[in-house]
Amino acid sequence: MARTRGRDRARADDDEREPAKEPKPDLSIPLPKPAHPRIIAVANQKGGVGKTTTAVNLGAGLAERGLRVLVVDLDPQGNASTGLGLNIRELEATMYDVLLDHVPIEDCIEPSEVRNLFVAPASLDLAGAEIELVAAMSREMRLRTALAPVKDDYDYILIDCPPSLGLLTLNAFAAVGEVLVPIQCEYYALEGLGQLLHNVELVQKALNPDLEVSTVVLVMYDARTTLAEDVATDVRAHLGEKVTQTVIPRTVRLSEAPSYGQPITTFDPKSRGAWAYRRLAEEVAIRGAA
Ligand SMILES: Nc1ncnc2c1ncn2[C@@H]1O[C@H](COP(=O)(O)OP(=O)(O)O)[C@@H](O)[C@H]1O
Ligand SMILES: [Mg+2]
Repeated sequence: MARTRGRDRARADDDEREPAKEPKPDLSIPLPKPAHPRIIAVANQKGGVGKTTTAVNLGAGLAERGLRVLVVDLDPQGNASTGLGLNIRELEATMYDVLLDHVPIEDCIEPSEVRNLFVAPASLDLAGAEIELVAAMSREMRLRTALAPVKDDYDYILIDCPPSLGLLTLNAFAAVGEVLVPIQCEYYALEGLGQLLHNVELVQKALNPDLEVSTVVLVMYDARTTLAEDVATDVRAHLGEKVTQTVIPRTVRLSEAPSYGQPITTFDPKSRGAWAYRRLAEEVAIRGAA
């Protein structure tokens, strides 16, 4: 029994160690600033696929390299807000007030513990917004209008979408230039993707001609399974250049960080997850600058 535990622990440690062959970005070199603020929706209508983890840690990876980043939490669960250290019970204003009561977004933006990284938080009342917005004027354009006065204050605005294609996600699609889709390296990875791409196309035609799915990221990759490898190959075959070279591994540390209110880059700066999100930040920034 004890021996089994020892072996499990050895394997868990192994899981966290960064393989020597993976390149490590030089953190002393700032990442290129985009010519215009890049506003990116992190979306996938499936829950639990790594949207929030990606919005928070990509944001931290960009902020760590000198870019000013705002994470907009558009999920009533508020996981991005708590994951960046906010106590969502103590907030004076949230994205609900911004979307429903025309409160300026500046009034709800809070600094995180990471320099250059800010959050526009959400709390549970945002669940009501999905319904209350139905009858509201210009209901799809609320977020776009709200972001307009602050967008030039940031290099990147990352919008953490809820797990649906409802009015909140529609507001995100109307407000952004790009969609980033995290795809979990598991069975049914591509299921629902057609519907997501179709919705992006509808919004692009009707509301926002600039909208495109610019980036697809493979997440929760478990190198010990051939399934993950098969899914990755399949996704690359379908989506080609949109898929980043960087793959985010499945690691325990990534799942632990949110309960400490920190992104992985400060929670465990030397972990595999931290280096993976740093590589992703570098890749996203360089692609955008090209
Ligand atoms: N690469 C990863 N390795 C391990 N756990 C992860 C990873 N990415 C996300 N998780 C965990 O999986 C769960 C779902 O991730 P989350 O980012 O909240 O998904 P979503 O926002 O799409 O619902 C969370 O508990 C999160 O901590
Ligand atoms: Mg989430």
